[in-house]
Amino acid sequence: MKSHPIFARAWDLVVRLGGRTEMEHRQELVRGLRGTVLEIGAGTGINLALYGPGVRVVAVEPEPTMARRAASRSRRARASASVLRGVAEHLPFRDDAFDAVVACYVLCSVADPPRALAELRRVLRPGGEVRIYEHVRSSRPRAARVQDLVTPLWHRCGCNCHPNRDTVGALCSAGFQVEVRPASYGPPAPVRPRVLGVARPRP
Ligand SMILES: C[S@@+](CC[C@H](N)C(=O)[O-])C[C@H]1O[C@@H](n2cnc3c(N)ncnc32)[C@H](O)[C@@H]1O
Repeated sequence: MKSHPIFARAWDLVVRLGGRTEMEHRQELVRGLRGTVLEIGAGTGINLALYGPGVRVVAVEPEPTMARRAASRSRRARASASVLRGVAEHLPFRDDAFDAVVACYVLCSVADPPRALAELRRVLRPGGEVRIYEHVRSSRPRAARVQDLVTPLWHRCGCNCHPNRDTVGALCSAGFQVEVRPASYGPPAPVRPRVLGVARPRP
């Protein structure tokens, strides 16, 4: 992946601007997780502090500046955490290796969503779940048109982020059953609406 050092340096500030609501959503995202958890596209590792002490987290992140920051945060986490450079489309893990996978503002950015989602299914143990907190394509035609308009420029500036992706639709097409709730806040923006919830492989 191309490196995005400016985006990487700005990301913590962007998240801080989301204030308490943003952090509450992230806490809800990982709440109750146990066992071995994979977080894809973990960025600067903001979520690493939120996992409980009994969890073993493996964070995968392709962008070098982001990965360095995440590694530094992993050393202060309560959970046992490690950070690997890599992409969601090619996960270096055996089948059924994880109890849960966490995807936080990353399915908008992966280069090949069907391939990444197939990899998530592969590494998730039977009965495991994918926790998602993502911004998605608007269901309002006018807002979706704005997302389509800004995406060609936006994805160059923001670690390949595509505001116009129908991520819930992609999860359903990849064989997941999805239960999400709306999680939008703040002023209108291309990276709204947001959804928070869980996706489970359909048998
Ligand atoms: C908007 S940032 C979110 C970072 C982090 N998940 C968070 O919420 O704080 C998007 C992240 O997705 C990562 N990313 C982009 N393409 C990816 C891929 N193919 N596989 C895994 N992560 C990817 C980027 O490097 C970046 O860290």
